[in-house]
Amino acid sequence: MDIPAKIITTSAQETKNFGGKIGRLVIGEPRAPGAFIFCLYGELGSGKTTFVQGFSEGVGVKQRLVSPTFIIVRRYHIPQTYFYLYHCDLYRFSHSVDIRTLGMDEIFQESNSIVLIEWAERLGDALPNNRIDMQFAIGPKESRIITSSYKKI
Ligand SMILES: Nc1ncnc2c1ncn2[C@@H]1O[C@H](COP(=O)(O)OP(=O)(O)OP(=O)(O)O)[C@@H](O)[C@H]1O
Ligand SMILES: [Mg+2]
Repeated sequence: MDIPAKIITTSAQETKNFGGKIGRLVIGEPRAPGAFIFCLYGELGSGKTTFVQGFSEGVGVKQRLVSPTFIIVRRYHIPQTYFYLYHCDLYRFSHSVDIRTLGMDEIFQESNSIVLIEWAERLGDALPNNRIDMQFAIGPKESRIITSSYKKI
């Protein structure tokens, strides 16, 4: 999949548009077993949720996306499919999370579903093997630097 290794956005709207573009790319991808997992890292306010908002629009989710900070995982149906987009936020966990407690191991195995995880570093050793890592950083003015890499087994 053709995700740019590095992109700099200069507004929230641009980050949203970038999310939309990646979402549309993912929908067109042939699928491997298990969920399509995006692990998002980066300081507070670096644009992770903004990216996920654009992404969910890109895959056609009609509901307004709200930050899952207090309930950890929110699930959205992807129209015209049997699949779901999961938006997770692990910020509240200061220590490594037991993903079984969260039921996330089951979500990771759901073929065709898409999972986006904010503060994914909280998963520690439980980070899934097949994933796309995206690092968000705050640059000068309103800019955000987004670097992406694939992680394979
Ligand atoms: N280039 C940009 N890309 C994304 N957001 C931007 C940009 N410039 C300014 N912003 C602003 O920065 C904030 C990003 O907030 P957002 O909730 O997306 O961050 P986050 O990484 O999810 O933070 P948290 O770790 O608290 O969940 C928003 O208020 C947004 O309007
Ligand atoms: Mg967020």
